[in-house]
Amino acid sequence: MKKIINEYDNYMVPFYAPANFVVKKAKGSHVWDLNNQKYIDFTAGIAVTNLGHSNKDLITVLKKQSEELWHLSNLYINEPSVTLAKKLCQKSFADKVFFCNSGAEAIEAAVKIARKFCSSKIDKNKNEVISFTTSFHGRTMLGIALAKAKHLIDGFAPLPKGIKNHPYNDIDNLENIFSDKTAAVILELVQWQSGITKADKAFINKIKQLSKKYNAVIIIDEVQSGIGRTGTFFAYEQFNIKPDILCFAKGISNGFPLGGILTTNKISKYMTVGSHGTTFGGGPIACSIGNKVVDITSKKSFLNQVRKKETRFIKILNRINTKHDCFEKITSAGLWIGVELNKKSNISVDDLIRESHQNGLMILKANPSTVRFSPSLIIENKLIDEGLKIFEKTITGLQ
Ligand SMILES: Cc1ncc(COP(=O)(O)O)c(C=O)c1O
Repeated sequence: MKKIINEYDNYMVPFYAPANFVVKKAKGSHVWDLNNQKYIDFTAGIAVTNLGHSNKDLITVLKKQSEELWHLSNLYINEPSVTLAKKLCQKSFADKVFFCNSGAEAIEAAVKIARKFCSSKIDKNKNEVISFTTSFHGRTMLGIALAKAKHLIDGFAPLPKGIKNHPYNDIDNLENIFSDKTAAVILELVQWQSGITKADKAFINKIKQLSKKYNAVIIIDEVQSGIGRTGTFFAYEQFNIKPDILCFAKGISNGFPLGGILTTNKISKYMTVGSHGTTFGGGPIACSIGNKVVDITSKKSFLNQVRKKETRFIKILNRINTKHDCFEKITSAGLWIGVELNKKSNISVDDLIRESHQNGLMILKANPSTVRFSPSLIIENKLIDEGLKIFEKTITGLQ
């Protein structure tokens, strides 16, 4: 294992500081490293493998599709992509879909589509985009310009123009940055980077009101919150807001790269052939898997289970906090959980993650004071209990 880790350091551009083990295989919510040490996975590939690792049904779909049609390009129609597009429209506000490969590309497409729509239908100078602090919209130049956080943009200037950034969940002075030049407002309804923070009612209402007044397109980034993660198929279903454009990726194909946007006929009719596109997006294998994922994760009974498991997590975490008084805040949206450590605990997030790994539990960072859990949506109750036992043991060890 040491040799591979050394070679990783020798050959990989140092954008990551990965855990100090090499993963050999994974099944359900378990992961094994090259030394056969077993881990309980509360990360699911950063909210991606929602149906668990090496899911049997998805393997069957992948094998069958790979033997029939592997790749084609978007110059020819493949049936799985059309079936998936129809399914996503039937399960949402949307009339039309564009497929790409990742979350960042979905954001790129959404902003391009919003600008194209506004410049074609309303005014060619209507191109400004409003975004919010502590957001995350991916690592492209556009994504980091939207989030505008120092740690994301340092060293990468010049950034794309026409973006105005405002404090999240703050309606004071929000109208001052809207104008007739506003083409779009982009937001996450649940921000992970600020520790699983939900958009509040007044904020949503203000965005709706101002977008209507200034004819701005509402883009909802559901790259991480979509596909059952928050206990509804899309998070917007819980927030009394209808997107004009919705971005999805992560869970849609359980780890096989696929992303996309949903939108309306009103907007899509202004898109023209050749004005946007992709080589890989909407490929038959990714979309076949996506079809199966959507069939499973959009079922009411499935989504009810997600909410039940959320309750289980929160109950146990509250119990841990009563015993150890170590959390400032526990927040959640379905199986997406933020645990903010309090100052008293004197535990650093990086230490907690490293020691959890050591003890056989995989968890994620949300920000310098908050850890994040995004387990598979089919994680067994027994593994929730076992994983949280490891988490508690790790905390005790660090206190
Ligand atoms: C809310 C949100 N938007 C966009 C992205 C970017 O997605 P990707 O990493 O697939 O480009 C992410 C990734 O974590 C995300 O969480």
